[in-house]
Amino acid sequence: MNTVLEVKNLTKFYPEVKAINGVSFSIEKGICFGLLGPNGAGKTTTIEVIEGIVPPTSGEILYRGKSRGARFREEVGIQFQNTELPAFLSVKETLETFRSLYGRKSDMDELIEICYLQEILNHDNRKISGGQKQRLLLAMALANDPELIFLDEPTTGLDPQSRRHLWDIVRNIKAREKTVVLTTHYMEEAQILCDIIAIMDYGKIIAAGPPEKLLEEQCSGTAVILHEHIDEKTLNSIQGNWVRMKDGVEIYPENLNDCIKTLMNLGINLSKMTVRPQNLEDLFLKLTGKRLRA
Ligand SMILES: Nc1ncnc2c1ncn2[C@@H]1O[C@H](COP(=O)(O)OP(=O)(O)OP(=O)(O)O)[C@@H](O)[C@H]1O
Ligand SMILES: [Mg+2]
Repeated sequence: MNTVLEVKNLTKFYPEVKAINGVSFSIEKGICFGLLGPNGAGKTTTIEVIEGIVPPTSGEILYRGKSRGARFREEVGIQFQNTELPAFLSVKETLETFRSLYGRKSDMDELIEICYLQEILNHDNRKISGGQKQRLLLAMALANDPELIFLDEPTTGLDPQSRRHLWDIVRNIKAREKTVVLTTHYMEEAQILCDIIAIMDYGKIIAAGPPEKLLEEQCSGTAVILHEHIDEKTLNSIQGNWVRMKDGVEIYPENLNDCIKTLMNLGINLSKMTVRPQNLEDLFLKLTGKRLRA
């Protein structure tokens, strides 16, 4: 095992809230580690404490088995959740400025290629789109050719195409045997990109492991989605759980065939029914009783 990062019993208490409430995990080299959780779960605080931007209340953080020192600062790349780009600079000038700050640097052409910046190199930072901005921020986080990269919600607010672009970049980074720590609200993203995820809620990790394993162990059934009102008595006659949605109901049956038979026998219209495997969103609901995203 080649452990890059170890976090032990981390806490960060503010007067009003325990933003991190006893978090421990370790991350092996070359993986993508995802912190997943709703707003306010403590994801940003956790990575900012690890990055050394926010002091912890207590706990220990080791980088390659040692306390974080000069080597950590040199070998880490950070993309913050919110970053203002310098005005009056082009994309290329911004990247060159950032690279000049470091002793150790990524190859400029490679950075441009990995982050798909060729077409916007001479654009003014103030005139680039949200997706282009995220790609530039990612290139800036990679300017020092880091071994360990922190990405705080790199795809929030992006359209599906820009999000897929970002996923390609993260895969490219991983293919270079770098280690990535990312936070996200999107369970699909976590399932696609992350080798290991830790689901956070109220400052604690409530489940951790490879996404497929977590699902297999705790949430391996199906979800039946019906876009109509079904009364409680009917729902309770089905073996399993159910939850009301904005415009219908989601049922997590113990036996899918039995559930569908019951619904048919009750004369319920199944023409708009959707059946899908359970996912991380369902796991979160099962663990906390609430949805990951409102
Ligand atoms: N500087 C601060 N002072 C006081 N409370 C803070 C501070 N920073 C964060 N918090 C609180 O700590 C908790 C965790 O916040 P954090 O930003 O880590 O959440 P998050 O999981 O990143 O959420 P989001 O998904 O919205 O980015 C929240 O309740 C937040 O209000
Ligand atoms: Mg955050």
